[in-house]
Amino acid sequence: MCGIVGYIGKKQAYPILIKGLKRLEYRGYDSAGVALISDNKQLNVYKTKGKVADLEAFATHKDISGTVGIAHTRWATHGEPCSLNAHPHFSSSERLALIHNGIIENYATLKEKLQAKGYVFKSSTDTEVLVQLIEYIQNSNHIDLLTAVQLALQEVIGAYAIAVLDRDNPDEIVAARKSSPLVVGIGTNEFFLASDATPIVEYTDQVVYLEDEEIALIRRDKPLRIVNLNNVECSHEVKTVALNLGQLEKGGYPHFMLKEIFEQPDCICDCMRGRINVNENHVILFSVIDHKERLLRAKRFIIVACGTSWHAGLIGKQLIESFCRIPVEVEYASEFRYRNPVIDENDVVIAISQSGETADTLAAVELAKSRGAFIFGICNVIGSSIPRITDTGAYIHVGPEIGVASTKAFTGQVTVLVMLALTLAKERGTLSEAEYLSMVRELSAIPSKMKEVLQLNDRIAQLSKIFTYAHNFIYLGRGYSYPVALEGALKLKEISYIHAEGYPAAEMKHGPIALIDAEMPVVVIATRNGLYEKVLSNIQEIKARKGRVIALVTRGDTVISRIADTCIELPETPECLEPLITTVPLQMLAYHIAVCKGMDVDQPRNLAKSVTVE
Ligand code: M6R
Repeated sequence: MCGIVGYIGKKQAYPILIKGLKRLEYRGYDSAGVALISDNKQLNVYKTKGKVADLEAFATHKDISGTVGIAHTRWATHGEPCSLNAHPHFSSSERLALIHNGIIENYATLKEKLQAKGYVFKSSTDTEVLVQLIEYIQNSNHIDLLTAVQLALQEVIGAYAIAVLDRDNPDEIVAARKSSPLVVGIGTNEFFLASDATPIVEYTDQVVYLEDEEIALIRRDKPLRIVNLNNVECSHEVKTVALNLGQLEKGGYPHFMLKEIFEQPDCICDCMRGRINVNENHVILFSVIDHKERLLRAKRFIIVACGTSWHAGLIGKQLIESFCRIPVEVEYASEFRYRNPVIDENDVVIAISQSGETADTLAAVELAKSRGAFIFGICNVIGSSIPRITDTGAYIHVGPEIGVASTKAFTGQVTVLVMLALTLAKERGTLSEAEYLSMVRELSAIPSKMKEVLQLNDRIAQLSKIFTYAHNFIYLGRGYSYPVALEGALKLKEISYIHAEGYPAAEMKHGPIALIDAEMPVVVIATRNGLYEKVLSNIQEIKARKGRVIALVTRGDTVISRIADTCIELPETPECLEPLITTVPLQMLAYHIAVCKGMDVDQPRNLAKSVTVE
C-alpha cells in the first residue's frame, strides 16, 4: 500500500527517486522519505509528513548527493502519519536504513524481544522493528547484510516488500518481497527498484518481477543476483515492459481522474482489440477457448473482488447467468477468504482486480487454488501478482489508471466480462444466433456511444454546482443498473466525502425512504428497459416525499422529464450493456462535485490506489 523506489548506478539518485515516488504516489501519500549514501559516504535520511512535494521542500539545501538510494511514499498502517513514522527507518547505529511496504504481523513479539536486549524505538511502526532485527542479527552473528536479511525474514510473519541500504556498503541494495510487489529494472550499468514498473519505464524496459520470499542483491557493476531465504540461487526471467510515458502524465487535463474518464472510448477499443470482429460477427476471448473444457464443466462460478471491481463482478454475475445459464456467486474477497467457503475442483473462480495486487483478492485466489478451483483473472496491471498465480485470464488493457477513484478500469472489467459471457455462451449454445450477433454489434458500438455521453461533461459540471450543499446522496437502480448505483455512490463518497448509498430501487420502500426529504438528492438510473415502469413508480414515490431526483434516462424520454428535477439523456443501448454507458455520467457527477468542493480528486484522504494490506 506504500510505494518503494530504489536506484544504484552512475547517475545522481535523488532526482530519479523523487520522480519515481511521484509516479507511485497513488499507492499512498501521507508521508514520504528518502535515504541516500552521499558522495562523502554519509547515510542521509530525509523524511516528512505529507506528499512527495513536501519531501522535496524539506530536502532543499540539504546534502542530496549520492548514486545509490531508496525512497518511500507511505499509506499509514502502524502509527499515525508523521515524520517519525515515515520511512526510511534507521537501525539503532544508523548504519542501516530500510523502507517497507506491507505489514509485519508479529512485530509486537519481535519488538519486545529487541527491547529486552536494550533496543530503543523511535517510531510506532512495524517497519522499525524489522530494521532493528536485521542489525541485531548481523551484529550478533558477524555476518553480511544479505545473510542477516535472510535470517530476519525467516522470523517475520506478514507481508513485505523491503529495500535496505548499508552505509558501509554503498555498492549494494538488498531487496526482498513476500505478498507485496517489487520489480527490479535493469539498465546499462544501473539498476532500479520499484513497487511497479511505472518509475522504471523511463530508463529501461527490462524488468524482473520478484517472486515471494526472493531476495534481490542489486550491486553496482555486477549482475543481478536473486536468492531465496535459504540462500538458494533463483533463476529469473527478464521481461520487457511496454508502457507509454504519455499514459503516466495528465496530458492537459486538470486531474488524472478526468483524463481517465475521457479515455474510456479508446480504452474500450483497446480492450476489445483482437477479441471482437464485427465483420465476421464474433467475439473471442482466447483464454476462454484455450480452457474451454475446464470452464464448460464448471458447476458454478464464484467472482471474488473488492470495491469497484466487486461492482463489476455484480454485473458479471448477471451477464454470465443470463447468457450462459451457469450459476454465479459474487463475494467480497475479504469475506470469502476468512469464512471457510464451500469450494472445490468443480468451481471456477473469477478474480477481478485493476491493480492485480489487492491483498484480499490475492488471498481469496490462493485459498480457492488450494481447494482445486480453476482460477480466471481479470486484471489491468500486466505482470502483477494476481495474473501470475491464476490459471488463465484476460487483461483489460485500459492502460495505467492513476486516479485513486477507479473509472476506466471498471468499464474495462465490464467489457471483458461481456466478452467472457459471450464466448462461453457461444460454446454452450445458450444464446440464439440472433441474440449473439446483436450483442456483438451492440458491444462494438459502445465506444462511440461513450463519446456522446462525454459531451455531457459541461452540463454535468454546471449541474454539480447545485449539489455541493448536500451531505447525503442516494443512488437507485434495478437489475444491471443496481451495481451502477453502488458504483456511482462509491465514486461520490471517495472523492467528495459526501455520504452516499446505492440501493436496488425497489428496496427503498423497505427503509431508506425514511431518509427522503426536500434536501435529499436521489440519482435514479431510469433508462428505458424491462424495468422502466417499475423504476418510474420508484421515482413517483421519491417525488411524493419531495426528494430531488436526478434521473439518467434514455434519449427522447418524455415521461420522466416531467417528473424528475433533472434528466440526463443517454444513448439507447441493450439493458445488459447499459452499465458501460450509465456509469460515465455518474463518474463525471462525482468528479465535478468534488472539484466544486475543492477536494483532492486524484488523491483523496485516507485512501490508496492499491490496497496491498488487509
Ligand atoms: O485494484 P483492485 O481493483 O483490486 O482494487 C479494488 C478496490 O480497492 C478499488 O476498486 C477501490 O474501491 C477504488 N478506490 C474504487 O474507486
